[in-house]
Amino acid sequence: MSTESVLVLNATGKVGRQVCRALCEAGFAVHGTTRSANSHLPALGVNPVVCNYTQRADLDRALAQTGARKMFVITDFFGAAKKSAALELAQGQIAIDAAKAAGVDHLIFMSVADLEMFDEHVTHLHAKVALEKYLRASSVPFSILRPCAFFENLDDPANWNPLKKGVVKFLSLKPCKFCATYDIGRAAAIQLKNPAQWLGKTLDVIGWEGDLTQVAAALQKVSGMPVKAKLAMPIFLRRLFLKDIHHMFLYYEEQKGPRGTPEAFKQILPDALSAEGWFRFHGRYANGEPIAPTV
Ligand SMILES: NC(=O)c1ccc[n+]([C@@H]2O[C@H](COP(=O)([O-])OP(=O)(O)OC[C@H]3O[C@@H](n4cnc5c(N)ncnc54)[C@H](OP(=O)(O)O)[C@@H]3O)[C@@H](O)[C@H]2O)c1
Repeated sequence: MSTESVLVLNATGKVGRQVCRALCEAGFAVHGTTRSANSHLPALGVNPVVCNYTQRADLDRALAQTGARKMFVITDFFGAAKKSAALELAQGQIAIDAAKAAGVDHLIFMSVADLEMFDEHVTHLHAKVALEKYLRASSVPFSILRPCAFFENLDDPANWNPLKKGVVKFLSLKPCKFCATYDIGRAAAIQLKNPAQWLGKTLDVIGWEGDLTQVAAALQKVSGMPVKAKLAMPIFLRRLFLKDIHHMFLYYEEQKGPRGTPEAFKQILPDALSAEGWFRFHGRYANGEPIAPTV
């Protein structure tokens, strides 16, 4: 078992907390950044580091305090960057510059599958395209994980889509590729443990493919009750109010990509979660009730 230290940025987010969990399970000493002095991180076995992950001085202090020379870097257009690609780019550059100054020996950057393939309307990916380039030119030893749509979007109360009994909602009914944020963490552990294989490389994180009817069938199997598949909003409203995301879905719906496959990802992580596996793993509806019937 490795006891090497990893600093996970934005550790209380949907991705961060599952990445922390997977890295702890893989035997790393995990330090997670949060702006809060009272986070749930210690309960996960994570050392909380009070740090705003978008501030250079905070990151310098976090790297010095923890001694971590491995880093999992997230940037966030919608949250921390407040829908500004320029701000997200600056925040990502700050993290890469801090890693360089501290002598980080492996930085994993969480990007997005096929990000250079979307049309110009998909503004929330513009900074990540530039950040991949910045990282490649930085001389910081790196690898890149490129996840597709998260299963977690199926239970996302913050974005008006809480998972409820008997129904599953998403922004498209058509076939889509999904991954669990936990599998982003498990892939990160694989890369950190095998730097000779992974430094300088990119991996698409794609666990499963199916349409919303198949997602509903998976929830039905786990819950033991009938489940309907429904659009989270009509497509004309998606086009009107979520233009950026709408154009991302058009790329998926026209079957252009993401080009990676679950089969390819399973060469690296053979037990990557399927929809059924993710509902079992997730375990609960948004109101806290268990999904699987208790005996
Ligand atoms: N949804 C998908 O299907 C999908 C697919 C691929 C990639 N992604 C990428 O995933 C990333 C989002 O990650 P996530 O879902 O894990 O994020 P998240 O859950 O929205 O992150 C929430 C955390 O962000 C921190 N935060 C919020 N506002 C902040 C601010 N102003 N300054 C600093 N920290 C702030 C808070 O941490 P504290 O309060 O503890 O500091 C909060 O717990 C995006 O880059 C997106 O492109 C998403």
